[in-house]
Amino acid sequence: MKKNKSLKYCIICSGGNAPGMSNAVVAFTKKCLASGIEPFYSLFGFKGLVENQFFKCDPIAFQEYINKGSAIIGSSRYPEFAKDAKLRAKAVDNLKQHGFDALVVLGGEGSYKGALELSKLGINVLAIPATIDNDVASTNYTIGFDSSLNQISKHINDICDCFASHAGIALVEVMGRNCPDLAVSTAIGSNIHYVVTKYSKLDLKGFIDVITNAKKHGKRRITIVITEHLYPSEGPQSLPAIAKAIEKQTGLFTRHAVVGYIQRGGASSARDRLLANYLVDVGIDNLLKGKKNIAVGRINKQTVCFPLAKALKMERKTNNQTLVKKFNEINQF
Ligand code: F6P
Repeated sequence: MKKNKSLKYCIICSGGNAPGMSNAVVAFTKKCLASGIEPFYSLFGFKGLVENQFFKCDPIAFQEYINKGSAIIGSSRYPEFAKDAKLRAKAVDNLKQHGFDALVVLGGEGSYKGALELSKLGINVLAIPATIDNDVASTNYTIGFDSSLNQISKHINDICDCFASHAGIALVEVMGRNCPDLAVSTAIGSNIHYVVTKYSKLDLKGFIDVITNAKKHGKRRITIVITEHLYPSEGPQSLPAIAKAIEKQTGLFTRHAVVGYIQRGGASSARDRLLANYLVDVGIDNLLKGKKNIAVGRINKQTVCFPLAKALKMERKTNNQTLVKKFNEINQF
């Protein structure tokens, strides 16, 4: 192994941005400099590797960004990368020509898969979980989840204020892809009456029953949180159509609202900042110990390190189903 002084690491952000990515980039820069490693970054994820966009990390310029939610070095999904072997070969050529000893990839599962492909072509990779969805199996928490949860909770409070004025019903859809963590955690932490997930999907009659029951218990306004992608975006089964049908049947002011991309903006939370620092620190230490192609995560308050291929095969263990059931039972009253 080279002496630290001649080591060069590169970092990228990949996939949908997650607040806290910038904190991880800053942590990476500082940790590298403190360990005698030259820190570099590439712009907009795997795309930058293909387009040969490499730059030195500047700790002074970067530190001004730690209060911003956006990914300081840009992030992108770049689906072509998974499909086209030529693009991956080009990225590997560029990384090798620049003499990088490791590539650090911040992102979710899709980004982990991209990193694994590069490792098969001889690039040493470190994957760090960063996505608001919290759907990476090898960690309890991903960077961005807590910030997004705080954003949703803040906006749900505002929606609740609005609907209290009208004694109305809000059907609020939140992002999270196929993972109910954001919806469930929002519901537990806010004054919500029902959470709709893949474990508790409602049809029109189901919505009406929940609303009738809540009204029977004297609820003035009713807020129902719903995981995205459970209902079609158009037609009679869509949420806007269901909202209209509820209003028609109950006579109560009913609207469908989407929290949307606000969830991926705003400053990162203190918890995500800490998480970013823990993961980067342990990840780089493991690379320096000679470990190759690894993924770090935070499990039971410990920062852990797995072979990347193993991390990708892990299955997510959550008690979401039980939580959703309990939550919906308790909130009938
Ligand atoms: O993965 C993060 C996420 O915000 C998901 O919650 C959501 O389903 C998706 O990205 C939206 O994708 P896009 O940014 O491509 O519109």
